[in-house]
Amino acid sequence: MKHIKLASEQDTIDLAAYIAPLLKPGHVVLLDGDLGSGKTFFTKQVGYFLGVQEQIDSPSFVLLKEYHCGRYPLYHLDLYRLKSEGELLDLGIFDMLESGITFIEWPALAENLLPYYTLKLVFHFDGKQRSVEVIPDGEHETYFTE
Ligand SMILES: Nc1ncnc2c1ncn2[C@@H]1O[C@H](COP(=O)(O)OP(=O)(O)OP(=O)(O)O)[C@@H](O)[C@H]1O
Ligand SMILES: [Mg+2]
Repeated sequence: MKHIKLASEQDTIDLAAYIAPLLKPGHVVLLDGDLGSGKTFFTKQVGYFLGVQEQIDSPSFVLLKEYHCGRYPLYHLDLYRLKSEGELLDLGIFDMLESGITFIEWPALAENLLPYYTLKLVFHFDGKQRSVEVIPDGEHETYFTE
């Protein structure tokens, strides 16, 4: 686990630039943390580094947005308004996981259903300072040593 200060948007962009090339289809990135802490901002930046030219907007009203114009299919979920695990199954989440890179904001409701995650990022924002905890699975630990 690594805790990184994000003093400016550029720090978040730099983190996205580091993480983007590590991601492959089948990978799942969980984005947890405070409202407005930068989960969508981070996803937009990773999308940019993976060649998504379309504008990536917050999927909080639609649950899921997908982008097929970059290097790999990119699925962006926001489960803030999700009411049940059943709704998530209706979205076809398992097919998605295998075919592209999946980013999930507010993942709590999905965590019991998901077979695994690749990387969990917990963003913090107290109104002044921003930071992120990076929690990789075993395989990806070596990329995030101190
Ligand atoms: N260091 C930083 N990293 C990320 N975003 C930053 C940073 N500094 C300022 N910001 C701004 O903070 C806002 C973060 O909003 P964003 O929508 O990404 O948050 P979120 O975690 O997705 O919120 P929500 O929980 O509502 O989905 C953006 O407007 C962004 O420009
Ligand atoms: Mg968001």
